[in-house]
Amino acid sequence: MIRVSVAGATGKLGSMVCSLVQAQDGMRLVGAIVSSGGGHVGKEIAPGVIAVGPEGLKSVLGETDVFVDVTNAAVAPGNLAIAAQMGVNCVVGTTGISDEALKDFSEMVRHHNLSVVISPNFSVGVNVFGKACEVLAKSLDGYEVEIIEVHHDKKKDAPSGTAMKAADIISKVTNVDKYVYGRQGAVGARGKEIGIHAIRAGDVVGEHTVIFAGNRERIELTHRAHSREAFAEGCITAIRWVHVRKDGRVHTMAEVLGI
Ligand SMILES: NC(=O)c1ccc[n+]([C@@H]2O[C@H](COP(=O)([O-])OP(=O)(O)OC[C@H]3O[C@@H](n4cnc5c(N)ncnc54)[C@H](OP(=O)(O)O)[C@@H]3O)[C@@H](O)[C@H]2O)c1
Repeated sequence: MIRVSVAGATGKLGSMVCSLVQAQDGMRLVGAIVSSGGGHVGKEIAPGVIAVGPEGLKSVLGETDVFVDVTNAAVAPGNLAIAAQMGVNCVVGTTGISDEALKDFSEMVRHHNLSVVISPNFSVGVNVFGKACEVLAKSLDGYEVEIIEVHHDKKKDAPSGTAMKAADIISKVTNVDKYVYGRQGAVGARGKEIGIHAIRAGDVVGEHTVIFAGNRERIELTHRAHSREAFAEGCITAIRWVHVRKDGRVHTMAEVLGI
């Protein structure tokens, strides 16, 4: 039985992950951590699981095999440091965490010999999309790359973690390492750069388009998530995968999916 606890349990993604964990054979939700100010502390999140505030994290982790963090970039590093110190494997979906915080966490994972999956996007489709970006970038030498992402109006960070991941994949292949975020005013001719643009509107679950443009043609590669379940199901796959490991490493979703 894999005992799972979820921080961000009442959020859009976290609540779905909690429901799916409860529905799995061989998996049990043992903890739900919520913000102190959201009005959910003390409420029953799932049968027999009472939500605790951030101060309850340590006691929940004491009986957890895999900790899932789907909160926000300000909160996650603190949660992950506690999980690492307590020797608990983690699955991290929270996006926008700083490079410095991720580096510190990776060091803790190595030091405590844990296994962790960190992914800005748990969906199978987006991870294949990342691979496709790599193939197209390799094949389309000198083509100009623009990335456009669309998300719902409540999303806290921009650009999305998935857009940044796509940029990093393409940058590695093309050696173009200048990122330009949106454009305004007298920007002049386009340079050797990757353009990244964030749109926030309505209830869009998540869309990413990468444009590879040459002088006479272009390819546009688009992924559209229809439902958050695509992310939540991937999170369950990551929980099962990481549960059996202790290798001191941070893994990607592409490794989990064997892509
Ligand atoms: N990896 C993926 O596939 C994937 C997919 C979608 C989203 N995401 C990322 O996952 C994160 C959550 O997304 P979302 O759409 O679910 O956002 P959301 O609906 O805002 O959920 C975040 C939750 O975290 C809670 N929270 C805040 N501080 C907390 C704390 N100290 N302890 C525990 N919970 C706390 C919030 O509670 P309050 O509302 O009370 O503050 C909220 O319920 C974001 O970083 C998002 O970009 C990842």
